[in-house]
Amino acid sequence: PEPGWTTSADVVVIGSGIAGLTAALRLKDSLGDGGTVLVVTKDELAAGSTRWAQGGIAAALGPEDTPAQHEWDTLVAGAGACDAAAVRALVTEGPDAVRELIALGTQFDHDPSGELSLTREGGHHRDRIAHAGGDATGAEIQRALIAAIGRAPEIEVIKRALAVDLVLADDGGVVGVTLHVMGEGQRDGVGLVRARAVVLASGGLGQVFSQTTNPVVSTGDGMALALRAGATLRDLEFVQFHPTVMYLPGATGQQPLISEAVRGEGAFLVDFENQRFMQGVHELADLAPRDVVAKAIMKRMLETGQPHMWLDARHLGADFWERRFPTILATCRSHGVDPVVELIPVAPACHYASGGVRTDLWGRTDLPGLYATGEAACSGVHGANRLASNSLLEGLVFSRRIAQVLPGELRPWAEPRSDDARPAGLVAGAVRPALQELMSTRVGVLRTAQGLAEAAERLVELAGRPATTVDLAAWETTNLVTIASALTAAASAREETRGSHWREDFGDRDDDRWAGHFDTVCADGAL
Ligand code: SIN
Repeated sequence: PEPGWTTSADVVVIGSGIAGLTAALRLKDSLGDGGTVLVVTKDELAAGSTRWAQGGIAAALGPEDTPAQHEWDTLVAGAGACDAAAVRALVTEGPDAVRELIALGTQFDHDPSGELSLTREGGHHRDRIAHAGGDATGAEIQRALIAAIGRAPEIEVIKRALAVDLVLADDGGVVGVTLHVMGEGQRDGVGLVRARAVVLASGGLGQVFSQTTNPVVSTGDGMALALRAGATLRDLEFVQFHPTVMYLPGATGQQPLISEAVRGEGAFLVDFENQRFMQGVHELADLAPRDVVAKAIMKRMLETGQPHMWLDARHLGADFWERRFPTILATCRSHGVDPVVELIPVAPACHYASGGVRTDLWGRTDLPGLYATGEAACSGVHGANRLASNSLLEGLVFSRRIAQVLPGELRPWAEPRSDDARPAGLVAGAVRPALQELMSTRVGVLRTAQGLAEAAERLVELAGRPATTVDLAAWETTNLVTIASALTAAASAREETRGSHWREDFGDRDDDRWAGHFDTVCADGAL
């Protein structure tokens, strides 16, 4: 549809989690007087994944720790697929970035001696995870960032606005974005925001799957619109499945996460015979990197025919549970499980997209004027399997980096090209559950050539079901189908098992053939 309204800003930031709000706050400063920043978010400012983060944010802040050790753990978890320079930037700039978050007002937990309390999660050889409110780290960071945005009225915010498509100039550079705003008074309906640069910080794609820890808004929108505009996506096959998501029979959509920090504080996995099964699998046992633990759980589920395994955290005791994991305790109890006296049923579920819009070390994509950060981006820091609690850190560090370079690279205002005719056609919103079920069963934790081929075929069918109304459900489902198709293609192409990509038919890591990356581009409307 034709835009019903137009506005403009030097920089539009799409997304309002840690990546988006950090970018906006830093850009306000780095652009200086007269520079304008607009934040666009699909729902309320706090509706994205950031506020759901439990375990915390990793950085070498402890007296025994160094960025080099954090770097090593990140590279090992990433299973040979990380970009070493990106990891170096993440871990060396991480401590300062977290200190800046504290200066902004984030209240992290402290131990009785007044030092920052640091815990451990899978794959870490040191205590380096800062947390807040026990297990409500993301919620506290999101609160502090929203408060900071409230103190910066010069940053304009448009809420309940889906970013539909990027607007390009004749030279292929990005000169704005079209929005579909749902109920913002004068700005209702489809509009055009003209800009000199766009920062994608729109988060992940968890809603591609039936069971995910991601909120309902995580529909891969930023990745899909970047792809349609000609940007390159990378590493989409590396979708991380969190090992310990509470198993609720038959439930779909966002599922309750049981943080790895619970294992970091001493909980362990057992099977239906009450046998621990992580010992001997990895030197870190229950705190092995996430892909190792998720695979071990799945293997034991397949061997025993059970739909889940168990997490035993009873010995932590009521007082510890109430103080250290109040959110998880309340969630478990609301589902009828008391972890102080009972085992928690757990199974892996989709948690994090390690891939995304390909960027360099400064968040630049291959489209002039388009930057990406946070889960929407693929800077190369996560490789084939993200190290626990590196995601909040990535958003923080790379958004700061974008704000450093972007003002010096701002392009002059330019006209949108006239012959832009995207998107080709919208997919019916009603397709969403079938797509999620298909992806979970065929492109989930365990993949085979046959399952992937079946998924690819059925996705073509689902993509052919046209929407009869132009609404949020149709836009989101169109984006989900686009991203699911790209993910399935990348997963079919990678004939090996590496990190979170697990092929039943190619069970080993094969560095001779598959050390590189799969890039997805869209040419003439096709992947
Ligand atoms: C968790 O708390 O287990 C999640 C941490 C993460 O995804 O990095």
